[in-house]
Amino acid sequence: MDLASVGTDVERVIATEEELKSRVAELAAQVDADYKDKNVLLVGVLKGAIMAMADLTRAMQIHMEMDWMAVSSYGSGTKSSGVVRILKDLDRDITGRNVLIVEDIVDTGLTLSWLRENLLSRGAADVQILTILRKPEAAKVEVECKYVGFDIPKDFVVGYGLDFDEKYRNLSFIGVLAKHMYE
Ligand code: IMP
Ligand code: MG
Repeated sequence: MDLASVGTDVERVIATEEELKSRVAELAAQVDADYKDKNVLLVGVLKGAIMAMADLTRAMQIHMEMDWMAVSSYGSGTKSSGVVRILKDLDRDITGRNVLIVEDIVDTGLTLSWLRENLLSRGAADVQILTILRKPEAAKVEVECKYVGFDIPKDFVVGYGLDFDEKYRNLSFIGVLAKHMYE
């Protein structure tokens, strides 16, 4: 779905389709170099990471495995609480594996810091994080991300997997949701 189709719902574009494509290709090249011969397991966090995972892995030139988790933070719909519930768990054991979590966005950081600890507690050899977006001003806990697509302001964004009330995930770009949509 493109910008013209969402009209005034989006007030500003953060990353165009072309910018996403070239940045994701750069990240893929870094992942290739860092994980050569390491049998990396990419763990995508549903549903937001679907686009990132699809584009990242197709730009990679090394073998990889893919698994998925779905998690939800307790609390109100828009605020992360840090108390995380697993809605869909990994299919396979990760003991001794080099895991790279693939995420759409790091906002407060609460979800990812929980997830990293959870995966480490299962015996993963190493757990790193790749995120398309990061909001440094929103951080409540420090989460070290090895790969970051773009640092962005605190605004609520949609597209490229990111939703508002389950909509806008299929935008080909990332944009700031207009305030009139939720205020
Ligand atoms: P956390 O606050 O870092 O724990 O982020 C939790 C989750 O909130 C993310 O994985 C996203 O699914 C969602 N989220 C945070 N900021 C945004 C946003 O700007 N747009 C859409 N979803 C968001
Ligand atoms: Mg998410």
